[in-house]
Amino acid sequence: ELSPIDKAKFVAARRAADFVEDGMRVGLGTGSTAAWLVRCLGEMVREDGLKFKGVPTSTRTADLAREVGIEVISLDEARWLDLTIDGADEFDGDLNLIKGGGGALLQEKIVATASDRMVVITDIGKQVETLGAFPLPVEVIPFGWQTTQALVEETLISMDVLGRDATLRMNGETPFVTDEGNFILDLHLHRIGNARQLALVLNQMPGVVENGLFIDICDTVVIGYGDGRVEMRD
Ligand code: A5P
Repeated sequence: ELSPIDKAKFVAARRAADFVEDGMRVGLGTGSTAAWLVRCLGEMVREDGLKFKGVPTSTRTADLAREVGIEVISLDEARWLDLTIDGADEFDGDLNLIKGGGGALLQEKIVATASDRMVVITDIGKQVETLGAFPLPVEVIPFGWQTTQALVEETLISMDVLGRDATLRMNGETPFVTDEGNFILDLHLHRIGNARQLALVLNQMPGVVENGLFIDICDTVVIGYGDGRVEMRD
């Protein structure tokens, strides 16, 4: 038996899997909710003969997709995608998101942006009034990361946010390293007043590669509840 939270993730993933049709090129997200999706799609490939090509957003997702029988291609082979289905860490009323809790935000944003449609699958617990309670992941180049960290913290003072601590994400005793060989700073902002502006300002800093704010990228959110209900918003 699944816990209510896993049930919510599963029913959202199961519903979104029905958006995938024969012949599509589909971006496959990263995280525990996206893993449910990949397993659902694998079952549809094996049992219903569904034929589609998947573009994974992380090595983790690529491994799982191959394991369950999905044909995996690279983004450059696909060039553009019909659809991307991915999880999120927070979503607001405008369907803007924070992503990157799993550290895959860079590939996730590139893949989602190359897609005609982005569908987010989530449990209701990730809905927020204002983004920012979840620490905002920012991917930075390892070279001079402490200088970049200081620059980020200084810049945050003048922005419409409540906190300004940027902490280096760790993996035990060493820094967490992304699929692209970079580090992650988690920004503890609590409340992001102007997400659009913050996303632009962060990406203008030399050491910053990308940030976890997805503004105007998501088209549909599929929300799962612990009792098995599913709600869709777009
Ligand atoms: C991965 O980098 C993130 O963007 C994930 O989409 C996010 O962390 C959601 O993960 P869960 O589905 O495990 O909550």
